[in-house]
Amino acid sequence: MVNVHQFVLSAVAGLGAQKHLNDYAPTAEFTKSIAIVGAGDGGLAMLKTLLDFPNSTRGTWDITLFDQRHDVGGVWLPELHPVSPPDVPETPLYPLLKTNTPVPSMTYPGFPFAEGTPLYPRHEHIQRYLSQFARHYGLYPYMRFNHSVTSTVWVGNSTVGRWNITYEHSDGTGRRVGYKLADHLVVASGNNHYPHVVAWPGQDKWLEGAPGREILHSVYYRNPEKYTNKTVVVVGYGASGRDAVLQISAVARKVYLSLRSIPERWQEPIPEGVEIKPQISHFTRRGVVFNDSSSLEVDAILSATGYEVRVPFLSRGNALATDANIHSNETYTQGLTTNLRYLFPLYRHIVSLCPNHAPRALAFIGLPIFIANAPSDGAQSLLVAHMIANSSATPSRDDALRELATYEEYLRREGYDPYTRGHRLINGEGSDYQDGVVRLLKERGVIPNDGRPYVEQWRRDIEKYQYMKRGWKRVEELGVADEWLRGVRTETQWSDLMKRLDQWQKEYESSQ
Ligand SMILES: Cc1cc2nc3c(=O)[nH]c(=O)nc-3n(C[C@H](O)[C@H](O)[C@H](O)COP(=O)(O)OP(=O)(O)OC[C@H]3O[C@@H](n4cnc5c(N)ncnc54)[C@H](O)[C@@H]3O)c2cc1C
Ligand SMILES: *[C@@H]1O[C@H](CO)[C@@H](O)[C@H](O)[C@H]1NC(C)=O
Ligand SMILES: *[C@@H]1O[C@H](CO)[C@@H](O)[C@H](O)[C@H]1NC(C)=O
Ligand SMILES: *[C@@H]1O[C@H](CO)[C@@H](O)[C@H](O)[C@H]1NC(C)=O
Ligand SMILES: *[C@@H]1O[C@H](CO)[C@@H](O)[C@H](O)[C@H]1NC(C)=O
Ligand SMILES: *[C@@H]1O[C@H](CO)[C@@H](O)[C@H](O)[C@H]1NC(C)=O
Ligand SMILES: *[C@@H]1O[C@H](CO)[C@@H](O)[C@H](O)[C@H]1NC(C)=O
Ligand SMILES: *[C@@H]1O[C@H](CO)[C@@H](O)[C@H](O)[C@H]1NC(C)=O
Ligand SMILES: *[C@@H]1O[C@H](CO)[C@@H](O)[C@H](O)[C@H]1NC(C)=O
Repeated sequence: MVNVHQFVLSAVAGLGAQKHLNDYAPTAEFTKSIAIVGAGDGGLAMLKTLLDFPNSTRGTWDITLFDQRHDVGGVWLPELHPVSPPDVPETPLYPLLKTNTPVPSMTYPGFPFAEGTPLYPRHEHIQRYLSQFARHYGLYPYMRFNHSVTSTVWVGNSTVGRWNITYEHSDGTGRRVGYKLADHLVVASGNNHYPHVVAWPGQDKWLEGAPGREILHSVYYRNPEKYTNKTVVVVGYGASGRDAVLQISAVARKVYLSLRSIPERWQEPIPEGVEIKPQISHFTRRGVVFNDSSSLEVDAILSATGYEVRVPFLSRGNALATDANIHSNETYTQGLTTNLRYLFPLYRHIVSLCPNHAPRALAFIGLPIFIANAPSDGAQSLLVAHMIANSSATPSRDDALRELATYEEYLRREGYDPYTRGHRLINGEGSDYQDGVVRLLKERGVIPNDGRPYVEQWRRDIEKYQYMKRGWKRVEELGVADEWLRGVRTETQWSDLMKRLDQWQKEYESSQ
């Protein structure tokens, strides 16, 4: 009934490009069921990596990917039906969204963007890329869209069992509830969904004080026009806050930017006319009061205060506790927990070390923050795929817990509280993290050690290109994007484009 052990594994065969799992995948005879939740960047990487195993290995695996949306893309797939609070939108996507990173950094290894894609494109290009990826690797037959996973219950003990997955399928005519049993559950449900909403003292009184006043989280932000001629406070200057400030300041009467701390170095300069304010302290009937006692009469607050780490279907299935106050590893023996910033205990931000289900029964793709998602999802998927194929591909729970404790100590030495820092990597370690995940598999003899790091040098070089983004802006202003993009197809050509562009802009700026 349950197939969690007794694999017949053949020797690893063949050395090839490290991105092609089928060159060195194990062969085995077994049957198992794998469920993936999410058809964004993370879930697609997971599905593709599983399908890379030769049919002799995965031919009898039952693989299903569920997504509540109508197509692939996750946050990059526009919503069909806008919603208002308290309903949470399917995506924070807004029409003017462009990527804030160059597209070569957003690619899966070996699958570059189509020729002609702007270096910092509008959002449609990313969804199109992901759907091309899904078609190219034959992923669509394994995906079930309009399927919302509502609950996952572990039926079993700490060594054997299965997930009982409840989903709701809407087919236009109605909703149908269904169940699916799976040995392995891979959660790739995304990081940018559940808004972190700050409630300030007095805000309700202020909202009632005059018509038209509004406090909105950036997950609901769509168009700047509604802020025309208004006085707006944007809270926070992460990726969402930066975009909102830029777009709203073009039409608003005045934009204030409220910040918890003033950065020493601005990643992105603040648009002219935007005024910095400290943290909001509270509201009065007339206006907003900041923590330096200054106050303003404003029309709207846009709260770009980020997202919470939640997985409601795990929580409903009693597989994940939610407690914002837990800030230590004392609960590791009880189960999986999220304090809304950090979900723990996980091995390398991926594999659940929860003692209540079988080892290797639950994994997460896409939790790390401050990392290039697509290649990182690929590295994480390699680990999960081999863990599913080979029960000794990853360390034992005890060894993994020891490693986690060492990692937490490292974070503390570097001045971070692991339970506040959560899945935000530190010291620009995104590439090292991915290399480490794949190196583990090589060191354990699961995949051949080709002596090369997982992250290609050209990806690491991207962060050196300080002039590139301004260079691309100038390229677009000059209307010469087509010339730059012509013939750029391979990874090498894309990386060369970025290098040339950076140099071109550097020369321009130093001649100014
Ligand atoms: C506005 C915005 C701009 C961004 N810009 C950039 C950028 O420029 N560059 C960059 O590198 N990164 C950017 N990111 C980060 C982006 O989140 C990642 O690039 C990546 O797309 C995340 O993919 P994911 O698969 O982890 O999650 P998601 O894209 O969120 O996909 C998760 C999927 O899981 C599905 N799902 C969730 N719960 C359930 C359920 N219960 N049942 C069924 N399905 C479910 C969802 O429908 C969704 O399709 C941006 C993010 C946002 C929000
Ligand atoms: C793949 O493997 C399964 C199970 O062993 C088998 O039924 C199927 O015919 C195989 N498909 C191909 C294309 O070899
Ligand atoms: C999913 O639902 C949408 C409507 O919400 C519908 O247009 C689409 O055809 C459905 N897709 C599938 C695969 O059922
Ligand atoms: C888990 O259940 C299996 C099958 O019922 C049983 O053989 C095993 O001893 C149980 N393990 C524990 C730790 O209870
Ligand atoms: C799965 O859950 C449903 C709903 O609770 C239940 O009817 C079904 O019997 C469960 N299946 C198993 C194998 O536990
Ligand atoms: C915004 O203010 C300007 C100048 O006062 C005015 O001309 C314009 O009509 C206003 N626009 C809207 C949408 O109210
Ligand atoms: C007020 O906010 C600023 C930054 O916004 C912060 O540096 C300062 O410590 C805060 N002061 C108080 C009294 O909370
Ligand atoms: C399974 O993993 C172990 C590492 O613990 C490794 O020695 C073995 O070669 C792997 N088997 C296959 C077939 O990959
Ligand atoms: C919990 O943290 C302490 C202090 O860092 C560490 O000594 C211990 O090994 C950790 N326990 C587990 C189970 O990770």
